[in-house]
Amino acid sequence: MNRGYPDRQLIVIFGATGDLSHRKLIPALWEIERHSPAKGRAMILGVARAGISDDEFREQVVDAMKKAGEDSPEIAEWAKRSIFFQSLGDQSQSAYQALRDRIVKIEQAQNLPGNRVFYLALPLPAFPPTVESLGAVGLNNGPGWTRVVIEKPFGHDLDSARSLNALLHRFYAEENVFRLDHYLGKETVQNLLAFRFGNALWEPIWNRDRISHVEITAAEELGVEARGSFYEKAGAVRDIIQNHLLQVLGLVAMDAPAGLDGTSVSNEKLKVLRSIAPLKNEDFILGQYAEGTANGKKLTGYRDEPGVAKDSKTETYAAVKFSINSWRWEGVPFYLRTGKRLAKKTTKIVVTFKCPPAAVFNPYIVCGNESNRLIITLQPNEGFNLSFQVKIPGEGMRLHTQDMRFRYADEFGKLPEAYQTLLLDVMRGDHTLFVRNDEVEQAWKVCEPLIDGTATVHQYPAGSWGPTSADRLVEREGHLWVNI
Ligand code: BG6
Repeated sequence: MNRGYPDRQLIVIFGATGDLSHRKLIPALWEIERHSPAKGRAMILGVARAGISDDEFREQVVDAMKKAGEDSPEIAEWAKRSIFFQSLGDQSQSAYQALRDRIVKIEQAQNLPGNRVFYLALPLPAFPPTVESLGAVGLNNGPGWTRVVIEKPFGHDLDSARSLNALLHRFYAEENVFRLDHYLGKETVQNLLAFRFGNALWEPIWNRDRISHVEITAAEELGVEARGSFYEKAGAVRDIIQNHLLQVLGLVAMDAPAGLDGTSVSNEKLKVLRSIAPLKNEDFILGQYAEGTANGKKLTGYRDEPGVAKDSKTETYAAVKFSINSWRWEGVPFYLRTGKRLAKKTTKIVVTFKCPPAAVFNPYIVCGNESNRLIITLQPNEGFNLSFQVKIPGEGMRLHTQDMRFRYADEFGKLPEAYQTLLLDVMRGDHTLFVRNDEVEQAWKVCEPLIDGTATVHQYPAGSWGPTSADRLVEREGHLWVNI
């Protein structure tokens, strides 16, 4: 990991007037300016179709920060000093030439060495024309280094991901491409590396000899909200499983990397993705939320959400059993599940260990799912719970499952936002928390049977834990979802 001072640079944000830019990127850039060694290292150029001036965009920045709960005169000063705007209007070649001229002008006026980040905070269909247009006016190369950041979803399926990779590689070397998956920037996800490889304790038991099964759940209470028309083309597999959850699976299941650099970490995650056995129909359940209730409130079904077709077959829930064919994991199911309008917002990894080999305590204890279990909560209430058996004091030998509990907030206070970490890494050129071309393609390959449109989509009541058939997916192997 590169933890030095970033070079001085210009960050060009495409889609600068949009939601992602306002809610995530601008607050993250302000935090970087305020608190990190990168203070004063970046100038920012917002780009969008809107015909607004530098000052109007600066007002948007100040407003976005107010919405993020930050209101201080320093923000307006930062915007005046470091933030500019260029309209792309009709997105013609001359608009891109004007953009190139503006970049050069800002670099000269600010005495910048010509290092550039192009951050494409854009919807998927806009990636290819933007990459082409930047290349057509020579903005893929500059006097310093040039990096491009692409948000997930990276493609729609394996073929489109391959085409997008090929297009990017026409203009940029892989080391200059940053495929961003915001889950990798979450402190708790990064901590998986520290937890697994900074402690000698886990490695000897982190395998098929001691682990019974692993669950990775990303449950959301919210529905699709105003994103119905986007979500119709995505669905839970493309939105969460292919990227966020397979990345987490990679970090949980991988072998120790040779180092913490991007190449070493990606190599190990890729090895895991390549070892996943092809999915069979009985390995997954897809679902879609119907009407339901939560806390006495009626909740709308997915098909009645704005922008959603009345006969939509898009899945808002997916539960998948992955088998990893490797010496470490043979026979250990990895259950991944995600859904919208579930009973609770929680993202967690649950590692359930096997029962003790000899039942010396029978009939006092029946080894249950929770006898030895490690729960890593990624959000909210980030932390760890490790459960084990203790004797209940008093006569006789009675056992009780006890939790050892650690919460980040108690020890470290507020955690940094994922985008802050990831933007700083782009500024430094550190790939450790980004997704490589071959990883993203392999993840699509793994997901192909889930997105070929042939699977039944089961209805589940909004506010529940998903379709009951998903319970059977784990129960038939003697396991249970951990719905806490
Ligand atoms: C995004 C998805 O990538 O992640 C959203 O597009 C989802 O649908 C979001 O709500 C969840 O992120 P987080 O950080 O709240 O778990």
